[in-house]
Amino acid sequence: MLRLDDHPSGRHFLQIPGPTNVPDRVLRALDHPTIDHRGPEFARLTLEILEGLKKIFQTAGPVVIYPASGTGAWEAALVNTLSPGDPVLMFETGHFATLWRKMAGRLGLEVDFVAGDWRSGVDPMVVQTRLAADKAHRYKAVMVVHNETSTGVTSRIPLIREAIDRAKHPALFMVDTISSLASMDYRHAEWGVDVTVAGSQKGLMLPPGLSFNAVSDKALAASKLAHLPRSYWSWDEIIASNRDGYFPYTPATNLLYGLHEAIDMLLAEGLPAVFARHRRHGEATRRAAHAWELEILCRNADEYSDSLTAIVMPDGHDADIFRRKVLERFDLSLGTGLGRLAGKVFRIGHLGFFNDLMLCGTLCGVEMGLGLTGVPHRAGGVQAAIEYLRDGIAAKAPRARETKVGSETTFDATLANYGLPHRKVVSDPT
Ligand SMILES: Cc1ncc(COP(=O)(O)O)c(C=O)c1O
Repeated sequence: MLRLDDHPSGRHFLQIPGPTNVPDRVLRALDHPTIDHRGPEFARLTLEILEGLKKIFQTAGPVVIYPASGTGAWEAALVNTLSPGDPVLMFETGHFATLWRKMAGRLGLEVDFVAGDWRSGVDPMVVQTRLAADKAHRYKAVMVVHNETSTGVTSRIPLIREAIDRAKHPALFMVDTISSLASMDYRHAEWGVDVTVAGSQKGLMLPPGLSFNAVSDKALAASKLAHLPRSYWSWDEIIASNRDGYFPYTPATNLLYGLHEAIDMLLAEGLPAVFARHRRHGEATRRAAHAWELEILCRNADEYSDSLTAIVMPDGHDADIFRRKVLERFDLSLGTGLGRLAGKVFRIGHLGFFNDLMLCGTLCGVEMGLGLTGVPHRAGGVQAAIEYLRDGIAAKAPRARETKVGSETTFDATLANYGLPHRKVVSDPT
């Protein structure tokens, strides 16, 4: 018989960039008896979840939940809004952008895929130039992966929105937030996104198995005219059933219990505090990498990801041999290099249910593994992170269920409170 969780003593360190560590509170919620998904108790559960999700996505519009991995929500975004042969604009930021492009091609869309170096985010100027050149408005959608999980590079969504607006282009804007939602500042409505794609297994701290589409009015209108074949993924029936708290099919009842609990935890911490926590852990990890004198894959400091860091292995060293040693010796799972980055990088996930000491333990495992596998580096990465974590907190962020989210000032105030770089110093409005 296969033994699950075959870890002899203490907790396994699951520091891949998703699935992430699932909090005990969520695990206990999953453990409740399954109830009738057509009964009154279930309707209350759904309605509370749908309200909570609006706060997490920062939208007043519908959020559709699928019992599927993130890939399902990619497909749902495309088949609900587009028609066969529609031209769409996509960007090669890494492995996941490449997979989404492949799916779009298979579904019969005409994809214009802007080449990238797998080390940078989407350049807003390129978006503007491409769209401005499309005088006939042939492109029906622009698709961007917010946080490329394969590279640890974050594209700047508000700047891309501005670029679309400057080009005065009517294309739909679709954003994959699978490894950024509930970890990094993200605002579906304020940033003018039409379809946001997300998954359960990263910032939302759940096991894999649920995924989401947040939908704008413009996307809903497009769905009335779109005729790519769709049935299971169709928003209209789901949104109609959701009004009373139900689904047109059997939902993933126990994962929804977990989702209810996870939303409660995130809102209790307060989204600005959640984002600031991720930013601190990203910064501490980058300081460790700099001290080790190892290269961070992301080229531009203003595109560093707060949910993971991809570190380049020095020439002649295989990242997977290093990862294997770290797993065997320290029971620590690090992310592998994906696609063309296989063997060349390893990825440290610092997202989801995570705290300072978990990060210190993770970085200790990395530093010891570098030594054991003879990877050239300078000692002192862990110390650099410790010093930053110890000295970097000026104060605790407001733990406010009622903290106003979606407000730049609130997030900046929280960053200032933590002693983190922020756009402007403001007094906390709460
Ligand atoms: C950015 C991004 N997009 C899409 C996916 C695909 O999601 P899934 O593996 O849940 O189908 C992933 C998975 O890690 C991802 O990180």
